[in-house]
Order: sequence, then structure tokens, then C-alpha cells
Amino acid sequence: MTLNRKEKEYFTLCAHELLESGEVQRMREYIQHANVTTLEHSVSVAYYSYWMCRRLHIKVDGRSIIRGALLHDFFLYDWHVGNGEKGLHGFTHPKTALANAEEYFSLNDLERDIIVKHMWPLTLIPPKYKESLIVSLSDKFCSVIETLRLYPKLISR
Ligand SMILES: [Fe+2]
Ligand SMILES: [Fe+2]
Repeated sequence: MTLNRKEKEYFTLCAHELLESGEVQRMREYIQHANVTTLEHSVSVAYYSYWMCRRLHIKVDGRSIIRGALLHDFFLYDWHVGNGEKGLHGFTHPKTALANAEEYFSLNDLERDIIVKHMWPLTLIPPKYKESLIVSLSDKFCSVIETLRLYPKLISR
């Protein structure tokens, strides 16, 4: 489950602006699942979303799928503790992530949809784009391998 050299270069090119950002780097401060930080989780989701498209020959907007996936959990708080008065994390964090992403970056409609729909079907409105559905699937896959602590075995890069 690895990208080839050319694919890795493209991934890095698309991810560069976001990963350089101090705000995105703040996702290092929070644990997502087991011992995996929210930043590591987001990079994994972006990586496997793009990997899936390449291996299954699904034509997508590669830049948007990578950027949307990197920002899908950009909620910036410890979800184990809670988010104050906003409501249940599972339902509310996509909107929080989108609001944060809009504050710091210029997003297109596809990137917005990827972020706000990634918890579907929990959040009822279905993804508008195939890229959003792919990120949603990749997020669930990564969440399972992280929770089962299989993360270090699968990801070596
Ligand atoms: Fe999420
Ligand atoms: Fe996630």
C-alpha cells in the first residue's frame, strides 16, 4: 500500500502548503486514536485516499482529495475531553473543521464537501462528489487500523 516515487512527489506537492502551516501542525498536539495524533491520522487518510484512486484507476481531482483529506479533522481540540457546548463530537466536528479550514486557507467546493461530509452516514447528507466518498471510506479504514494499533505496521514512509 505504497505510492511510487512520482505519486509521492505529487502528493508532497499538493500537501506542501497545508503541512507547512503552523495551524495544521497544531494537529500534532491532539491524539486521534490510540497513540496516533490527529496530524498523523489526517496524513494517513490523505495518503490512502490518493493511493486508492491511483490503484483502482479512479479519475479524481488529486489535489483537492489530498487537501480535503488533510483538513477533514482540522477541529483543533482534544475530542476525548469534549468541545464545550457544541454537541456530540461525532456530529459537530466536520463543521468545526470546515470553519477552521476556511479561516486559514482558500478552499474549493470539492474540498469543502470532503471535510463536511466525511462522517457520512452518521451525518445524514450524503457526499456530493466521489472524492468525498473516497475520503469518508479511507477515514473509516484508517480509524480502524489506528484503533487496533496496526498503524505502525502498515505505514512506513
Ligand atoms: Fe472526523
Ligand atoms: Fe478522521
